[in-house]
Amino acid sequence: MIDLNRARLETPGCQHVTHFNNAGAALMPEPVLAATLNHLHREAQIGAYEAADKMTTELDEFYNVTSALLNCHPDEIAFVENATRAWDMAFYAIPLAAGDRILTSSASYGSNYLALLQRANQVGAHIEVVPNDESGQISLTALGELLDERVKLIELTHMPTNGGLVNPAAAVGQLAREASVFYLLDACQSAGQMPLDVQAIGCDFLSATGRKYLRGPRGTGFLYVRRERLDELEPPFIDIRAADWLGRNRYQWQPNARRFENWERNVAGQLGLAAAIGYAQQWGLANIWQRVTGLAELLRGRLAALPHVTVHDLGRVKSGLVTFTVNGRSAAAVQHYLHLQQINVSVSRIGSTRLDMEARGLTELVRASLHYYNSEAEIGRFCDRLAAWRD
Ligand SMILES: Cc1ncc(COP(=O)(O)O)c(C=O)c1O
Repeated sequence: MIDLNRARLETPGCQHVTHFNNAGAALMPEPVLAATLNHLHREAQIGAYEAADKMTTELDEFYNVTSALLNCHPDEIAFVENATRAWDMAFYAIPLAAGDRILTSSASYGSNYLALLQRANQVGAHIEVVPNDESGQISLTALGELLDERVKLIELTHMPTNGGLVNPAAAVGQLAREASVFYLLDACQSAGQMPLDVQAIGCDFLSATGRKYLRGPRGTGFLYVRRERLDELEPPFIDIRAADWLGRNRYQWQPNARRFENWERNVAGQLGLAAAIGYAQQWGLANIWQRVTGLAELLRGRLAALPHVTVHDLGRVKSGLVTFTVNGRSAAAVQHYLHLQQINVSVSRIGSTRLDMEARGLTELVRASLHYYNSEAEIGRFCDRLAAWRD
């Protein structure tokens, strides 16, 4: 279903590296590179404002392709510079008061949890971490029991940064809707990796980044905001894109999710991200998901067979993120050793997912994150290198 040859031919980086750091930033394919670079050239040649004016249709297309990706309306999409800011724009817009409860999970991303802490301290709200079930995903039973009229928000990281866990986003959405609480989903690692349907998931907000599984340029991301929720929210920042200045003492928010945007932006990046989303749709998200999970299972199996390697992934459903430790080696040493063989991996440290790492007694993990353009041969070489490693 995925033509591996074509995928690799259209990915220039495949000629240079074995890139198992797609959860950091994936390799851009040619059409994304072209859309981004062409616009930078246009800016240099005719002026950046003038170049943007020439591309209004293509810039609008960003909202169409993104809404098609998520099964929502283009008006429910905001272009934001990264997943953290997209998440922040939603979170800081939610009204919270003393005594309100915020439910999160142990997979919560560091920056998200820091924002929860900051705001809980400011307003006197309480953060509660929903326990996991025996597989390591958020416990739906525990979540159901914790929900009451004081809960204002469920904040869930769909796929954590530090492992293969896939949290049951739609089952959580069902509980959120029954309890009528805000539901903010961090889909930073899942966007572009698996099909996402905000109607089926039932979230009010979804944040994502461009550079990871969507294969877009850095410095790009987006936020989905459910239309019915707009009037309950006060965006934390305002500018002349987010609102119209109507009179000396009057302004009006944009009638849609554009009220969460900035005026100034990386226009080439927005065009590149639109191209990346269109490109992912051409392959088909279901096809991508099937290939990514198949490759990850292959890698987990091969790694588990190595006597000095321990695989650490949790969850009933597992993603393309594969995490492991190597006996007697620091994660940085493993990363460095692999880097010398033109293999890219990353290191997940405790600061990114403190709740989960502490609960499991971990401080760092090596993360190999696979995409559909990675090959079985690369997985073989990767494991052979690890198996052959002697000082
Ligand atoms: C689960 C998760 N959420 C949020 C982020 C932050 O994304 P960004 O760097 O685009 O702000 C990351 C980045 O690694 C992540 O893994």
